[in-house]
Amino acid sequence: MLDIQSNISLKSYNTFGIDAKARYWVEVESQDDLKTLFQLTEFLTIPKLILGGGSNILLTRDFDGLVVKNNIKGIEVVREDSQHVYVRAGAGENWHNFVLYCVAHHYAGIENLSLIPGTVGAAPMQNIGAYGVEIEQVFEQLEAVHLKTGEIHTFLHSDCRFGYRESIFKHEAKGEYIITSVTFQLNKTPTFHTSYGAIQETLTEMGIADDQLSIKAISDAVIRIRRSKLPDPAEIGNAGSFFKNPEIPKEQFDRLKALYPAMPGYPIGETAVKVPAGWLIEQAGWKGKRVGNTGVHTKQALVLVNHGGTTGEEVKALAAKIQASVADQFGIHLNPEVNFVG
Ligand code: FAD
Ligand code: EPU
Repeated sequence: MLDIQSNISLKSYNTFGIDAKARYWVEVESQDDLKTLFQLTEFLTIPKLILGGGSNILLTRDFDGLVVKNNIKGIEVVREDSQHVYVRAGAGENWHNFVLYCVAHHYAGIENLSLIPGTVGAAPMQNIGAYGVEIEQVFEQLEAVHLKTGEIHTFLHSDCRFGYRESIFKHEAKGEYIITSVTFQLNKTPTFHTSYGAIQETLTEMGIADDQLSIKAISDAVIRIRRSKLPDPAEIGNAGSFFKNPEIPKEQFDRLKALYPAMPGYPIGETAVKVPAGWLIEQAGWKGKRVGNTGVHTKQALVLVNHGGTTGEEVKALAAKIQASVADQFGIHLNPEVNFVG
């Protein structure tokens, strides 16, 4: 039985903690709930926002439509071969709980993605990534329901057009589908990804010798690093990295490096370099700054925070100021990672 409510505060449903309202609200637990929803003709044509954990959205105003909160659960092994286990998870499963389930069952491949907030269903949206791994490396397929026709579609890896924080669901297919399940191809024999950032150092601090390495140890190390660096949304509202790390032409990087010798950069092929946006924002003087109720995190300049009572418009205004000063100082445009709603 679907319970469609109206005029609901979304404050506790977005990790920024922004107090915008939804005109209508419904929670779906199954494909059958979706079928029922599609039979309600009065809701067919109104705008819809598919919501998972609300950890990558910025509500810029009240949402004049129907928010569909995805609570579709379930984890099952669908098949296996000599090297892989194929695990399907309902889109409403909590991502981190799913990672812990895989780690506990020795299914390798997503341990570096521990503690990313949100749901399984949102993970393919921006091809979530951290500590040298992106979900596209273990993605097999997903099922999604078309929001206008109610038809069920399967998207294989090649259909999703994954890139860095990108997929078809942020472009041609934006707002067109509700993802209902994702199937992952996980490995029976792990390949350990320990070269990124502080992982190796943290494993050493934890007393894990090379011959004791396991996916559980990597998961624990990633959790430890993330807890020390990133603000917990339960304590201070935020949506993780607000901007993507920009990729710039190598010539531009070389020119900037001559001016700013400390500027970090990671080569992308021969012709481009990825620059940490957090570094650019810090150099532009924004780290730890506060404007009204919105601020830039003290430990991670790429994260904008809600000091209490901020609005989507205020966050947008601060983001625009940061973009302008980074463009002014470095000639680099920062693109938001967060999805603006409204
Ligand atoms: P939501 O915020 O609910 O939705 C995000 C977008 O996906 C919206 O456009 C929404 O409409 C759409 N969407 C959600 N579910 C569905 C669905 N079932 N079908 C269709 N569309 C859907 N991200 C990383 O990649 N790496 C990180 O390391 C990382 N660290 C973070 C740390 C913190 C502290 C926070 C707050 C965020 C972080 N993020 C990170 C961002 C965020 O956790 C991910 O983008 C996550 O996948 C969002 O999941 P969600 O369920 O909260 O999505
Ligand atoms: N840096 C600074 N000042 C800062 C922050 C960062 O100078 O205030 C510089 C440092 O040189 C640091 C480098 O930026 O070495 C990279 O910082 P960090 O390792 O914290 O990673 P990031 O590039 O800021 C990215 C992702 C994160 C992901 C981490 C770990 C993006 C946009 N962000 O952050 O993802 O968890 O790497 O892999 O790619 C997210 O998407 O929401 C997110 C948190």
